[in-house]
Amino acid sequence: MLPKVALLIPAAGSGERFGAPIPKALVQLKGRTLIEHALLNLGPVATQIIVAAPAGYEDKFREILGDAVTVVTGGSTRTKSVKIALESIAPDIEFVLVHDAARPLASSELGQRIIEALAAGDVAVIPALAVNDTIKEVDAANYVVSTPNRERLRAVQTPQGFARETLVKAHMQNIEATDDGALVEAMRGKVKLIEGENRALKITNPEDLATALKYLIPARASDIRTGVGVDAHAFSEDKNRQLWLAGLLWENEIGVDGHSDGDVAAHAICDALFAAANIGDLGSNFGTSKPEYAGASGEKLLGEAFNLVSKAGFEIQNVAVQIVGNRPKIGPRRIDAIAKISKALGGSQVSVSATTTDGLGLTGEGKGIGAIATALIVRSGS
Ligand code: CTP
Ligand code: MG
Repeated sequence: MLPKVALLIPAAGSGERFGAPIPKALVQLKGRTLIEHALLNLGPVATQIIVAAPAGYEDKFREILGDAVTVVTGGSTRTKSVKIALESIAPDIEFVLVHDAARPLASSELGQRIIEALAAGDVAVIPALAVNDTIKEVDAANYVVSTPNRERLRAVQTPQGFARETLVKAHMQNIEATDDGALVEAMRGKVKLIEGENRALKITNPEDLATALKYLIPARASDIRTGVGVDAHAFSEDKNRQLWLAGLLWENEIGVDGHSDGDVAAHAICDALFAAANIGDLGSNFGTSKPEYAGASGEKLLGEAFNLVSKAGFEIQNVAVQIVGNRPKIGPRRIDAIAKISKALGGSQVSVSATTTDGLGLTGEGKGIGAIATALIVRSGS
């Protein structure tokens, strides 16, 4: 049987040193808040998750974190926030991991190693790194008091893991410390250090975001994929058919024939995304064997394609689509088209361009509209 683990995340700090107008845990790092990153990485190792939010932000936290997370109102210090969160742990919890929202990238592998050490009998397990700088102890006037031997110093991180009873007792002392390990130390408990990880760095100042970002850039070329998609439809004989293109309705233009609304730009983008993720094509995902997509709008198909690509484990880096045809004139509505497509793709980076083809070929002859799209996607969390 796996041990029952609770994950407590103190996220109630304002982030004074960071200096943003919103609480630090809500600051974004590559499209996600710090608290979301922390949960994405460490949530999977826990059976219960409790987050201490800043007073007044509880509903905002509930909205972004969902029902699986218990949100409580934090206290005036980190120690108090952890103590408050501790009151909500379920009766069957054996081990508790306490993890700073300010360390968004600590890995689930680190969490697992801490749980393993607890399961092997240690009551307090904390990750640590050797320090590279020489550390000085100073007095209030900035005169050096001592130089501890660097060999014996460690910089500690979170998640820190504890046997439930040990952490509850440690917090009953009602003393303040900047980490929970220090509270166990204060009652002469044994605190075991294990190897920490660079990616568990703490976001304290704005420049720390740039350091964290380096861990989110794909490490391997195989995590970066491109795809291409092409589509074309002939103008309809039916003069009343509406023209839908790039997610927009084009008034006073003749529509094109097709199984759906005939939005060639949206279709080419879907195909480019499917090709990049290697998950089939427009036909296999939305074709005649899937009647629920008959007549579906380009916007709906884009939204579905975005979901399928996300489910396959990828994030969209950007998509570019070029519309090929003599009409309609795209330029005046380019910004609207970009906004519409981007929204359907979860806020992705989108570009839209257009060209004519010197009277050559299907679209150049004015018989229809074509589109060519490319997509660049990267494996999520890599
Ligand atoms: N924290 C908390 N409750 C507080 C203060 C801090 O839950 N009253 C949390 C922070 O949200 C953070 C963690 O404790 O996840 C580590 O604290 P720190 O990095 O110091 O964050 P802040 O206190 O927000 O930053 P600062 O000290 O610069 O104000
Ligand atoms: Mg602080």
